[in-house]
Amino acid sequence: MKYIIKGGNRLSGKVRVSGAKNSALKIMAASIMSKGRTLLKNVPIIDDVLTMAEVLELLGARINLDRTGNCIEINPDNIKSFEAPYELVRKMRASILVAGPLLSRFGEVKVAIPGGCNIGSRQIDMHLKGFEQMGADSITEHGYVYIKAKNPDSKGQKKRLKGSAINLDFPSRGATENILMAASLASGTTIIHNAAKEPETSDLARYLIKCGADISGVDSDCLVINGVDELKGCEYEIMPDSIEAGTFIVAAALCGKKVEVQDAIWDNMGIFCNKLADAGVNITNIDNESVIVRKTRALFKNVHISTLPFPGFPTDLQPIISVFLSLVPGVSVITENVFENRFMYVDELNRMGTNIKIDGHHAVITGVPKLSGAPVSATDLRAGAALVLAGLVAEGITEISDIHHIMRGYENFDKKLRELGADIIKTD
Ligand code: EPZ
Repeated sequence: MKYIIKGGNRLSGKVRVSGAKNSALKIMAASIMSKGRTLLKNVPIIDDVLTMAEVLELLGARINLDRTGNCIEINPDNIKSFEAPYELVRKMRASILVAGPLLSRFGEVKVAIPGGCNIGSRQIDMHLKGFEQMGADSITEHGYVYIKAKNPDSKGQKKRLKGSAINLDFPSRGATENILMAASLASGTTIIHNAAKEPETSDLARYLIKCGADISGVDSDCLVINGVDELKGCEYEIMPDSIEAGTFIVAAALCGKKVEVQDAIWDNMGIFCNKLADAGVNITNIDNESVIVRKTRALFKNVHISTLPFPGFPTDLQPIISVFLSLVPGVSVITENVFENRFMYVDELNRMGTNIKIDGHHAVITGVPKLSGAPVSATDLRAGAALVLAGLVAEGITEISDIHHIMRGYENFDKKLRELGADIIKTD
């Protein structure tokens, strides 16, 4: 599948972002831990959600997906298996997030080690260290990691994790989320210091609380979880996707007349919107519910970006803002502090006329007057989205291949852009 884009159209109108991929996937995994059905609303119908649904079904859950209503109903009561197979974990790294839930429900889990991807090695050492501190042993062999709780539960019927004080070396989102889920049904209290504070992690915590978990410190870097004996499924609405919002905001900054991005929550995008405002973009926060971007005659200014955990500049919007900065006169520098290899997309962008040089963790961007359409390929999800933005503003035709990467995380991406006036089609 490919996108074919004819650049140059001005965008205008309103676009509503979908539910957050990086919240929905975790909450779907967390539903394993509860008794009875969970009904999730505002779920983005994207490939990663379909893959997670496949993992849950393979484990034995009953799934009812309402594509038009963006809802998914999960009944985990018949889950008997605690093995997440390689072919699905390889397809989507986030499958590792069934480890905490399965470990807390069954006292053991066998999960394929997620491969690296085009942005970095994607280790899980902090996940495993957290589980070990909670009284589990883990061994790795044949591409799988086996994790087993050692301590018997109060009734001596199965093994149960024990609460512990855990200090994360880095505020890893996945490690925070896996440990948070495991701790919710552990015996005793778990404290996670240096926890990730991303809004999507807090969304997971709020879902668990609605299921009956005892969690305090949500939105902070210190989560305190008092384990409970049972969680009950509930109805929950997924928060809006702040990375999709940022993607449409940059599209509007590049070639918009006046665009309103609805469900774009300014405070959930870290310092991203402030950085665009510093660069001279005419961007307005409407009650922390939507963002309006208007065309401006002002000359844009260089800004320097350093990606950091929330509330710093989100690494997922690093490829996205690089397209904007590539057309700002002068030199801008992006420093990538979260992943070790997140500039793979630069070679593809430079084929479209950008002038970006990589020096270790830095991208030195020298502004050019225009981009030109070219055949390019997506190397990962956000890199693919960046190429689409470049195609919108480039002269001529841009053909983007390997767009399956993009379909993983953006719902109706080309349709939403066409409705704003972009000339983009998807071909098989
Ligand atoms: C989440 O990945 C997101 N994915 C990523 O979004 C996002 O880029 C990333 O957080 C950082 O914000 C989902 O939520 C599904 P981390 P995650 O654990 O949880 C290292 C997208 O485009 N690390 O915070 O894997 C790791 O290698 C995707 O939607 C360890 O070394 O991120 C990385 O360099 C791409 N050991 C850094 O920490 C560990 O045990 C951040 O990882 C865990 C992580």
